[in-house]
Amino acid sequence: MIFHILVPDNVHQEAIDILQTNADIRVSAPGKLERAALLEAVVDADAMIIRSGVTADAELINSAPQLKAIARAGVGVDNVDLAAATAQGVVVMNTPGGNTISTAEHSIGLMLALSRHIPQGHQSLAEGRWERKAFTGVELKGKTLGIIGLGRIGQAIAARAQVFEMNVIAHDPYLPPEVAAAMNAPLLALNEVYASSDYLSLHALVTDETRGMINAESIGRMKRGIRIINAARGALINAADLAAALQSGQVAGAALDVYEQEPPPADHPLIGLPNVVHTPHLAASTSDAQVTVAVEAAQLVIDFLLHGKAENVCNPAENSS
Ligand code: MLT
Repeated sequence: MIFHILVPDNVHQEAIDILQTNADIRVSAPGKLERAALLEAVVDADAMIIRSGVTADAELINSAPQLKAIARAGVGVDNVDLAAATAQGVVVMNTPGGNTISTAEHSIGLMLALSRHIPQGHQSLAEGRWERKAFTGVELKGKTLGIIGLGRIGQAIAARAQVFEMNVIAHDPYLPPEVAAAMNAPLLALNEVYASSDYLSLHALVTDETRGMINAESIGRMKRGIRIINAARGALINAADLAAALQSGQVAGAALDVYEQEPPPADHPLIGLPNVVHTPHLAASTSDAQVTVAVEAAQLVIDFLLHGKAENVCNPAENSS
């Protein structure tokens, strides 16, 4: 039997090469497809490899009667309808470790860019001005960084922030406190992290509990002049509330890589504010990370289709195959 693997997203060529060398696999890698073409292409697919650009919702999954596996070259599976996949017996797998360092480095880059007005200074000089006073910044040294979600990425950020001589505190209801203590990043209640942090970096999944957790009420509990960095998911932030806090000075600045809707609409309240630095979901976009996650995703699909081995399964535990 020849398995058809559809790769309808910009997944690194190295993964396609690995799949193509396997005699039991037929690959089609058309890159990003319009919705109608995607629904057509998936009809005879046995597996799909995707990044965040493909929404694998119930309609797509139900259009693929042969589909057995979806591999996400990346961490977040919020673009996959896990309930629909599970109901159709489709295993969903991700590659959780492959872009940790890239994402951590981008978060630190955002923190520095925000603190030193690097994008604004660049733009000003490119436009022919020589402005120095307007771009006076702040040092990271001695400041407190609060990390919400001390998983792989949060931990990599903690280690890097400590090299900058920042004090690191964290909130993570799932991590044993002794693991955090050993990293010199003590776990505190959310309110304590809000009240003590000069910088807040978000690394949580979007759940019913965390959706919109950065809002007028929680911002009101933060230290005045806090700077907020989000390279996790846009839906963690209530954008209108953060924009109001940036305008009032309660929040001194924000650095954002992710948006609830991507690309964000032209009238997004945070895009273009003078104290906001933003990038278009680039945290994992390094050649290093993209090779790693793509090759891992290809291997996951090969192992599942040809050897019946499922790793990094994201389907809900009680229903997963
Ligand atoms: C991830 O979830 O892996 C990152 O946000 C990167 C991506 O979406 O490709």
